[in-house]
Amino acid sequence: MARFLVTGGAGFIGSHLVEELLRRGETVRVLDNLSTGRLANLEAAAAAAGAPVPEFLEGDVADHALARRAAEGVDVVLHQAAMPSVPRSVADPVSANHANIDGTLAILVAARDAGVKRLVFAGSSSVYGDALEMPKREDMPYKPLSPYALQKQVGEQYLQMFTALYGLETVTIRYFNVFGPRQDPGSPYSGVISLFVKAASEGRAPTIYGDGGQTRDFTYVANVVDGVLRATTAPGISGQIINVATNGRVSLNELWAQVRGLLGATTTPVYGEPRAGDIRDSQADITKAATLLGYRPIVPFEEGLRRTVAWATGRG
Ligand code: UD1
Repeated sequence: MARFLVTGGAGFIGSHLVEELLRRGETVRVLDNLSTGRLANLEAAAAAAGAPVPEFLEGDVADHALARRAAEGVDVVLHQAAMPSVPRSVADPVSANHANIDGTLAILVAARDAGVKRLVFAGSSSVYGDALEMPKREDMPYKPLSPYALQKQVGEQYLQMFTALYGLETVTIRYFNVFGPRQDPGSPYSGVISLFVKAASEGRAPTIYGDGGQTRDFTYVANVVDGVLRATTAPGISGQIINVATNGRVSLNELWAQVRGLLGATTTPVYGEPRAGDIRDSQADITKAATLLGYRPIVPFEEGLRRTVAWATGRG
């Protein structure tokens, strides 16, 4: 049995990782500043796993003393804490830098000093930027278009440096537009699927930034949980960067059509200016995940969308 620390464990993706770890009977500690995370997510995760709510530390992962306390006695760190929004990082690059770079450095130092066996980091497909070649392979050059993308790039480079300098085992899993239950539609910075589902269920028109032809490899959260947990045990992958996604490509116009169909909505979208820092297309090559982790998507996009709509409308 390993002891896990999940930073950002009260957030959307973090709480799904916590849920699966609890289901497996692992010992879990959560560190979260509740900026976008919520205690209700942890309670829901524990209830779904039939386990007690795990140990919870509230505070900033960039606080070195707290990060040190959080990493004490831990075998595996899942570093999910972040300010997870491209437009929010454009509006407030300094706070985003604090969360995404200072926070990552603090947990790396704490993990190194605590003798953690492996740290798995939530990377982002945004680091590919507007590289035209598709699907995106991990060996393609960085082309960050936003502070968020740059910060995620630096995060994964910091991991590799800690592996090279101090022998800390690290793995970056690059996420591609993760969606599912517990993704909060409460802010204009929320993920587009959560916003579309909310708009459709309230009979409101969604906003589409740009012409809606931009595409994303929308990934249901159970796939990410599977990929990340495989990365905690797969042998010989220290220092690696690995895409975990569905390998699909859905435009925003197609996405709205599907959400609208599932909810029987009749509104049509309002089109606005393209968002600063947005990338146009995103689709993952997942060959490396298959080779190194034995990963393949377990929940396809359409099924994930059905589950998400069912959850959002109280039938999930
Ligand atoms: C998302 C993640 C980010 C992750 C990245 C790569 C969120 C909030 N962000 O960024 O953490 O690192 O994928 O996996 O999950 N859009 C609209 N209308 C809206 C909202 C968004 O048209 O109301 C558009 C955006 O302009 C963009 C697309 O939808 O073109 C996706 O936006 P968003 O869900 O915010 O995700 P990303 O910016 O791709």
